[in-house]
Amino acid sequence: MKEIVAQLEAKRAEARAGGGPDRIARQHAKGKLSARERINLLLDEGSFEEWDMFVEHRCNDFGMDENKFPGDGVVTGWGTVNGRIVYVFSKDFTVFGGSLSLAHAAKIVKVQRAAAKIGAPVIGLFDAGGARIQEGVDSLAGYADIFMENVLSSGVIPQISVIMGPCAGGDVYSPAMTDFIFMVKDTSYMFVTGPDVVKTVTNENVTHEDLGGARVHSQKSGVVDGAFENDIEALQQIRRMIDFLPSSNREKPPVIKSFDDPDRRDMSLNTLVPSNPNTPYDMKELIEKVADEGDFFEIGKDFGKNIITGFGRMEGSTVGFVANQPMSLAGVLDIDASRKAARFVRFCDCFNIPIVTFVDVPGFMPGTKQEYGGLIKHGAKLLFAFAEATVPKVTVITRKAYGGAYDVMSSKHLRGDVNFAWPTAEIAVMGAKGAVEIIFRAEAGDPDKLAERTKEYEDRFANPYVAASRGYIDDVIMPQNTRHRIVRALRQLRGKDVTNPPKKHDNIPL
Ligand code: HXC
Repeated sequence: MKEIVAQLEAKRAEARAGGGPDRIARQHAKGKLSARERINLLLDEGSFEEWDMFVEHRCNDFGMDENKFPGDGVVTGWGTVNGRIVYVFSKDFTVFGGSLSLAHAAKIVKVQRAAAKIGAPVIGLFDAGGARIQEGVDSLAGYADIFMENVLSSGVIPQISVIMGPCAGGDVYSPAMTDFIFMVKDTSYMFVTGPDVVKTVTNENVTHEDLGGARVHSQKSGVVDGAFENDIEALQQIRRMIDFLPSSNREKPPVIKSFDDPDRRDMSLNTLVPSNPNTPYDMKELIEKVADEGDFFEIGKDFGKNIITGFGRMEGSTVGFVANQPMSLAGVLDIDASRKAARFVRFCDCFNIPIVTFVDVPGFMPGTKQEYGGLIKHGAKLLFAFAEATVPKVTVITRKAYGGAYDVMSSKHLRGDVNFAWPTAEIAVMGAKGAVEIIFRAEAGDPDKLAERTKEYEDRFANPYVAASRGYIDDVIMPQNTRHRIVRALRQLRGKDVTNPPKKHDNIPL
């Protein structure tokens, strides 16, 4: 028996050694942790149960039958994050550069299927060189198996990808189909084709970092939802994020005990909106003053900054915040902001997370760049997302709610459940100056007359009372009471039960 146990231990030790100490040392020298170190930091101590550590590839070409590593370049299994089950796969760059064989793919598919069956998130840690070149089409088949599971699990369980090294070729499309992607600055990059292919095809000279580094994707392309300084920070933040998420679409969001008084008033909010309507203010301050303990996990912080999205809690229960940000482009809705917020709203709706929307929006961004880029379709995504969402929706208009953007931002007309306005709200087709220039064009040469007309327009429309008189706003509330009123609205909405008409699926303007 002793020998049998020793044999098992020896086999386990061999698998745990990955590509060996030299390759692990090279990994560390690049500022990266090993696949197993990452899992240990992500999961609760001692909770990881590894599966398939003895799996080997079955490729015999190019001398591969002589070149096998138990585990085959990916560590898979399950464990817990603050006591809640998650499934995990972590690419091991020290084994064939983490490249994907059919056997490696089957390991990933196994955890994906288990997660969907049980109803728990899947977290993928990426650090890999794409398709296992020696395996050819088997590798492509393996990728497609993973993609298929990504799609079937979409909207069923949260899927999260963290890019912690190279991520190219076949490896990019699985993350792209997950709910959130995060990257580690300086050590990770993500692209469909690398700099050498780019040079051959387009004659462009570009570095890995400039083509697909964390800054590019978190600030320019919007492919990823956040960039972290290093592996440790990334994994700690993923743990924090998991605490906000339900484990599947069959669950309500988790409730974490809150010590923040639900009736807490915040007098400073009464002066948040400046008296000059063109002066910006920081909408994040409102979110942080309203959410439990000011705890806000922002999604897409550096992309489409004119809208803020992220998770917070009210009375201990997760909500998704969506808010125009007057500090950036006056909070206008453009392509980036619309895409970013639409995707976030849809995530919340998939996973039963109520949406709290703060509105200060001057409209949609004008210009050829936006129109040529398809603002009509992208703006419609946000409209569509808010309209189809059946989770509780609470909206507070703090200042401007102009034109189509008023409709889009979770208005009453798109089945907003509880719609409040601050006394400083201005709900109108457009700002007073623009409106007067159009409807009183004949008086354009008379500045005094125009000023008089502008004042007249402001008195009539630069307030929340016309909308409130129609019932489009349920109440005009004092800013100081915002937290208390949202808490009450969400309590009242706990029993909300609305479904959309039966259909195969909708056809959101992609
Ligand atoms: C097999 C691979 C590999 C791969 C790396 N390795 N990529 N083995 N298949 N795709 C191995 C190397 O041979 C090496 O083995 C070890 O991993 C580390 O690789 P290095 O090149 O030494 O590391 P580094 O200098 O850090 O460069 C990392 C890299 C580079 C940029 C990822 O390895 C690279 O460009 N790899 C090829 C990427 C690629 O073209 N993949 C195919 C994409 S096509 P030893 O034994 O020396 O440690 C694709 C299509 C799928 O993915 C489409 C599905 C839809």
